[in-house]
Amino acid sequence: MSYRSLPKAELHLHLEGAAPPAFIKGLAREKHIDIDRIFDGNGGYVRGDFDWFLKAYDAACTVLQRPEDFRRLMLAVLEQSAEQGVVYTEFFLSPDFCGGGDLAAWRDYLDAMVDAADEAERRMGITSRGIVTCLRHLGPEAAKPIARCAAETKGRFVTGFGMAGAEMMHRPGDFAWAFDAAREAGLGLTAHAGEWGGPDMVRETVDLLGCERIGHGINAVTDHALCDHLIERGVTLEVCPVSNLVLGAVPDWKSHPIEDLRDRGLRVTVSTDDPPWFGTTMTHEYEMLERHFGWEEERLRVANRVAAEAAFCDETTRAEILKKLEAA
Ligand code: ADE
Ligand code: ZN
Repeated sequence: MSYRSLPKAELHLHLEGAAPPAFIKGLAREKHIDIDRIFDGNGGYVRGDFDWFLKAYDAACTVLQRPEDFRRLMLAVLEQSAEQGVVYTEFFLSPDFCGGGDLAAWRDYLDAMVDAADEAERRMGITSRGIVTCLRHLGPEAAKPIARCAAETKGRFVTGFGMAGAEMMHRPGDFAWAFDAAREAGLGLTAHAGEWGGPDMVRETVDLLGCERIGHGINAVTDHALCDHLIERGVTLEVCPVSNLVLGAVPDWKSHPIEDLRDRGLRVTVSTDDPPWFGTTMTHEYEMLERHFGWEEERLRVANRVAAEAAFCDETTRAEILKKLEAA
């Protein structure tokens, strides 16, 4: 069956990483920026390893220069998500690409994005929230103004703080100042860990940064004591299976630990990460989980309920999402 019409909640989606290649190409042409090297001949992005991906991602972002670019981008991405049956989505938003961490500039970009989110909710019935995100490879000092942007704009739309980027640079504890500031502001916390790093990286992210969600977290599977610890603390994993396959975090489908993690009792959710970079959609993720692990409708519905329970939103919104997820 096609899972396209199944109502879905997605927790792990990078706004810039979700940009359709044609959208980025169009802006590059308008602005006379030469980034031809990141496009393949078939209307997609060139695929490569994680180092290539981070560099190409940065290159794509050079064309996103004004609040209006981000307004159009967010609307385009929400249209794509709504077509896949997504009723609730959370975006990783990077002030580093929106004024470089300057608070006044960030507010202008954010206003444009909230405009787009409101329009999408009115027109397509898709609800979204923003997780302000620092980039690990820029280091702990650079994360501080990003945490400030998050704390100062916490509200109806900005509900979380996160960390993405190159996991093997720095240690989680180096970012404690930024995560403490975000927690004090009342934001939900998540960070990428255990995508490239081992279980130690996941443990430190939970224990030293206080994250209640982990981006990926797949390498926790090798450490059973850590798995028990994550279960005890109610930590939710934002697993992005196709991303892991395409970037080479796992060598093949049979090695992907999503089913082991679920079977062990961890709170597992499913997301696309950066869909056009990996040739995926939420529907495609579900089809792959069905094909490789026998996940059928009820198991997918459970993953969606877990996502709604872990969503960084108020209780009224959570109840609304849960209701939409129950639809036939
Ligand atoms: N930024 C966008 N996608 C990412 C990923 N899979 N890991 C780390 N940082 C990212
Ligand atoms: Zn990610």
